Amino acid sequence: MTREHFEIRDQDGLGRIGELSVPRAGITVETPALLPVINPHVRTVEPSRLRSEFGAEILITNSYVFYGSDEYREAAVERGLHDVLDFDGAIMTDSGSFQLAEYGEIDVTTPEILEFQRDIGSDIGTPVDIPTPPDVARERAEEELATTQERLGIAEGVDVGEMLVNAPVQGSTYPDLREEAGRHASATDLDVFPVGAVVPLMNDYRYGDVVDVVAAAKRGLGRDAPVHLFGAGHPMMFALAVAMGCDLFDSAAYALYARDDRYLTVRGTEHLDDLEYFPCSCPVCTDHAPAEVRRLGDRDREELLAEHNLHVTFREIRTIKQALRSGDLLELVETRARAHPAMLDGYRALTAHAEQLEREDAVSKGAFFYLSGESARRPEVLRHRERLDRLALDPGDRVLLTEGGPSDRYDESWRVLAPFGPFPRDLSETYPLTAEVPDRMDPEGYRSAAEGVARLAELNPEVEFTLAHRGWPERALAVVPERVELADLSGE
Ligand code: GUN
Ligand code: ZN
Repeated sequence: MTREHFEIRDQDGLGRIGELSVPRAGITVETPALLPVINPHVRTVEPSRLRSEFGAEILITNSYVFYGSDEYREAAVERGLHDVLDFDGAIMTDSGSFQLAEYGEIDVTTPEILEFQRDIGSDIGTPVDIPTPPDVARERAEEELATTQERLGIAEGVDVGEMLVNAPVQGSTYPDLREEAGRHASATDLDVFPVGAVVPLMNDYRYGDVVDVVAAAKRGLGRDAPVHLFGAGHPMMFALAVAMGCDLFDSAAYALYARDDRYLTVRGTEHLDDLEYFPCSCPVCTDHAPAEVRRLGDRDREELLAEHNLHVTFREIRTIKQALRSGDLLELVETRARAHPAMLDGYRALTAHAEQLEREDAVSKGAFFYLSGESARRPEVLRHRERLDRLALDPGDRVLLTEGGPSDRYDESWRVLAPFGPFPRDLSETYPLTAEVPDRMDPEGYRSAAEGVARLAELNPEVEFTLAHRGWPERALAVVPERVELADLSGE
């Protein structure tokens, strides 16, 4: 299904650079995009500065806050959100669903809040979906999903003018429900597809579960749908989320963390009290030392920390976009995965979806960098192994698979490279076999190569194989079938 308002420009894995056109704002937003959350009561950083100083093209605020306050409501209806917030980019509004999840109920219906969002000039509105928490009983997840889906149907019938409308995807931690929810949402005529109710997972550092939830939703939504990860605020996890195919993020973290003197980095969170140096060169960190910032009053300190937090957040989005352009997004994800064991879980969960990734990944990129045992599980390795069944060997031949040079004592001699396994020498200059790999390969890489050997042997039962390896560990050799003769080159 092609989308009227979203176009994919470039792709790496499931990650992509896209353009979301927002007709009501009269602009096109480049994705992946970060939407700073603006709480109109607080305004830690003035929205007018977000575009000029930080490059924000779009922000998100909660229409329910305006709806529920006499003072704000009147101003928003009369002057419009853009004027009240003093922001000339695109504005997405949430519906109060989050308050619904926090406080149990809200007194507004989907048509009321959508019409209100339209009336205050929102560019992308949201129906009242039900953010079902993780791990609830299946029955509850199903019932609440049915309600959310009913409301998406109601939203389709509301006259929203040019405003785009979000179709949130719920389903708790049930992958089949998330997938079904994705398929249903994608079939509506709504425009943007937030994966909802992942905040509790992220608060508990359950990044592996976040990945599974997003992967399931994406299977249902299909490639062309623009996907928003609702409430994903920490820059540490953006690369992972983009690699899963998320296009939009909102961040309240920059402001919430600043309030508690917390300083964001792509490697985690630091407390201001623990910093002797600022490991960053944004304007805040260039102009101030931590001790100076500690001496400021609450309000100034909070503002400076929020500014730094926004700078790292936007910088990470640019880093991700450039990685996407260069075709090394997965290398970036793997690097970020080292920040925290929970991130490593997220990355491992991602590689467990290698087949889903493989279907969409570009066949050729720059150079494959092997960075850790996880690299052995990347989609390129899987694809290489699948390609083996298209590479013919003649029955009865004696074939050498070797990490060393070719030998004319055999009918054919193929190269072996961990983590990929065996391949004909004339593929040596093709992606991903041009990979940069460490001299000191890890057991996962060898094991993966051995699995490639096993696969080739299985596909060619009539061929006699010899594997000449450089001291592969026993654990890897154990996967190689017995009929493959082994020769250890490491003593040579
Ligand atoms: N903000 C964070 N999570 C959610 C969600 O699931 N639904 C809505 N509407 N807003 C959110
Ligand atoms: Zn900084």
